[in-house]
Amino acid sequence: MPARPSPLPPDALLLAPMVGLSHRPLRELVLGFGGCDLAYTEMTSAAGYLSGAPYDRYFLDTGPEPGRAVLQFYAVDAPRMVQAARKAAREIPAAGLDLNFGCSAPHIEKAGGGVSWMKDPGAARDLVARVRDARPEGGISAKLRVGYDEDYGRLRDFCGGLAEAGADWLVLHPRLRSEKLRRTGRWDYVRRLGEDLDIPVVGNGDIRGPEDHAARVRECRPAGIMLGREAVRRPWVFALIRGLERDPGFQITVDIAGTAETALRLMEEHQPPEFHISRARRFFYYYCDNLSFAHHIRWKIQNAPDLKAIRQALAEYFEEVPGDRSQVTGARPQEPGDRGTSR
Ligand SMILES: Cc1cc2nc3c(=O)[nH]c(=O)nc-3n(C[C@H](O)[C@H](O)[C@H](O)COP(=O)(O)O)c2cc1C
Repeated sequence: MPARPSPLPPDALLLAPMVGLSHRPLRELVLGFGGCDLAYTEMTSAAGYLSGAPYDRYFLDTGPEPGRAVLQFYAVDAPRMVQAARKAAREIPAAGLDLNFGCSAPHIEKAGGGVSWMKDPGAARDLVARVRDARPEGGISAKLRVGYDEDYGRLRDFCGGLAEAGADWLVLHPRLRSEKLRRTGRWDYVRRLGEDLDIPVVGNGDIRGPEDHAARVRECRPAGIMLGREAVRRPWVFALIRGLERDPGFQITVDIAGTAETALRLMEEHQPPEFHISRARRFFYYYCDNLSFAHHIRWKIQNAPDLKAIRQALAEYFEEVPGDRSQVTGARPQEPGDRGTSR
């Protein structure tokens, strides 16, 4: 059989799936700075999608670039994941479909979804094989954690089974099931898995900018790197990484105030009104890190009742701190007083 073309380019940069954050507005913002190679949607329940859950058209909106979007589903049983994969192949244009084997949210894990698939390698392998049959075209990935313990052999065997069953690539967020985001990830597992498997392994976790990216590429040689929270803080981070790879002197000037307004406008355009305030609060929780008095403005936004109040709070902030309106970022500053940073 001829090999399927993989939508995962070499040294890929990927946007992570994040509930409430990895929506179309964020992808549009990222694209406005040049985009990334693949962007995952926030995870969606396979069962909910099959039953026509009302908001799924927002969760599963693969715009503005369906050819670079990967849908992420979670399911607590194989039949519904397989049916959802089949239905999505008919209805939703996308570059790929991801099976969530990493979510440790208690209500999902206890029901048998997310990371709990890692308890049963045979069932996970069978699921991937059936999804492969249901979706012969397009990429299939699985995003997973190290698992329930530090047993590398177990992780390798689990992932080897997924590869044999037809997964095109894997994304490893190298934390144990119980580890919170505060603990540093075990990137060594990304390197070892990449060496041991015949399919690409993408690493994910704690990349805060071009320096972290370059260090992980050097040390672990992943097939790609996926960024989550930093892409919310700085939707231009992919452009920065690529720019500095090409040219060590690369710098961009980012319109911090304008990007904030664009984010709000995109939320109004692409999200239902009842999501506006929660989505905006989530986005600005991270984005405020670009501002000198982040704590103060974040608090105001988290307590704002609607987008109008957020706009008002931002307008007052930039009036008081005009120096925060834009930021030069990229190569280290050459001149004293230049606020450039590549972080
Ligand atoms: C708010 C939030 C929501 C998340 N939702 C998902 C999700 O829907 N699916 C998933 O596989 N991982 C989810 N994650 C995990 C991220 O995809 C990623 O693995 C994690 O944030 C580590 O990457 P980072 O350090 O680049 O943020 C979520 C993380 C955060 C912070």
